[in-house]
Amino acid sequence: MQKNNNRNPNYLSFKPEKPWVLCLVVFGLIGGVSLSISFLRSSRLYCGDGAWGGRAGNKTSALLDMKVLLHYATSRVVPQQTYGEISVSFDVLQSIAPCNFLVFGLGHDSLMWNSFNPRGMTLFLEEDPKWVQTVLKDAPALRADTVRYRTQLSEADELLRHYHSEPDCSPEKSFLRGNDKCRLALNMLSDKVYDTEWDMIMVDAPRGYFAEAPGRMAAIYSAAIMARNRKKSGVMHVFLHDVDRKVEKMYAEMFLCRKYLVKAVGRLWHFEIPPATNVSGEFC
Ligand SMILES: C[S@@+](CC[C@H](N)C(=O)[O-])C[C@H]1O[C@@H](n2cnc3c(N)ncnc32)[C@H](O)[C@@H]1O
Repeated sequence: MQKNNNRNPNYLSFKPEKPWVLCLVVFGLIGGVSLSISFLRSSRLYCGDGAWGGRAGNKTSALLDMKVLLHYATSRVVPQQTYGEISVSFDVLQSIAPCNFLVFGLGHDSLMWNSFNPRGMTLFLEEDPKWVQTVLKDAPALRADTVRYRTQLSEADELLRHYHSEPDCSPEKSFLRGNDKCRLALNMLSDKVYDTEWDMIMVDAPRGYFAEAPGRMAAIYSAAIMARNRKKSGVMHVFLHDVDRKVEKMYAEMFLCRKYLVKAVGRLWHFEIPPATNVSGEFC
C-alpha cells in the first residue's frame, strides 16, 4: 500500500501562533480519547476478562484488545471472509456473547473471532500442527486443538453412501465420542469439545480445495450432531463458508438443512438448528 506523504506546505509549517488554540486541540484530544475508553469499557465490545487472558484484569484485557487492533491495523494479510460475511456472525455474537464458540480452522481471522466473544470461550480446531505453532507463537492466548481428520475430499460421494449404510451415522444414534464406525463423526476431539455445550460453530476449515485435503464433510456432519444434542435452551448457530463449492453445499443440505438456513451472504450460510427433542428423527 502507498504511504500518504502529505506535502501540503501549510501542514509542514504549522506554528502555534495562538497558544490557546493549541491548548484547545490538546484538551479536545484528551477528552476524545477518555470518552472512547469509557465507551469501550461500558460496551459489550470491551473484553473484561476475555478468553485471551482467562481472568485477566480490565487493564490486561484492554491491552489485549489494543493489541488486536494494532495487529489488524498493521497487517498486510486480512481475513478471507468479506465484511458482509463477517458482519453476519458479528451481529449474532453481539446478541449471544459471552458464549461458547467453536471455530473450525486457525487463520488470519482467529484473533478477530476471539475478540468478538469477550468473556466467552472460543476454541479453534486446526488440522495442520505446524500452522498451529506458527499462529500460537504470535497469539499464545488463543485456544487451539489439533485435529487429525479421517477423511479426504475425494471421498465425499462415497462418504454419503457410507452415511446411508452405517447405523452409527444415523440421526437416532447422534454421537461423536467413541464413534469409530461412522467415518463422518469426529471421534478424535478432546473431551473439552464433547463436554461443552456450543452456542455457535463456524465451519471455515479444514481445507477442501484439493482431492487429498480433508474436506469439510466430517466438520459439517459433526456440527449437525452437536446441534441436535444440545441440552441448553435455544438454537445453535452454525455458519458455513465456501458454500459456492459442491461438497459444502451438498453436505449442508443433507445435514444442516435448508429449512434451518436463516441467512445467506456471499459465500456464507447461517443456520439456526434446534435440538433434536424439538424435531423428528431425521436431520432435515
Ligand atoms: C480455508 S482456510 C480459511 C482461512 C480463514 N478463514 C482466514 O481468513 O484466514 C482454513 C485453513 O487454511 C489453512 N491456512 C490458512 N492460512 C494459512 C497460512 N497462511 N498458511 C498455512 N495454512 C493456512 C489452515 O489449515 C486453516 O485451517
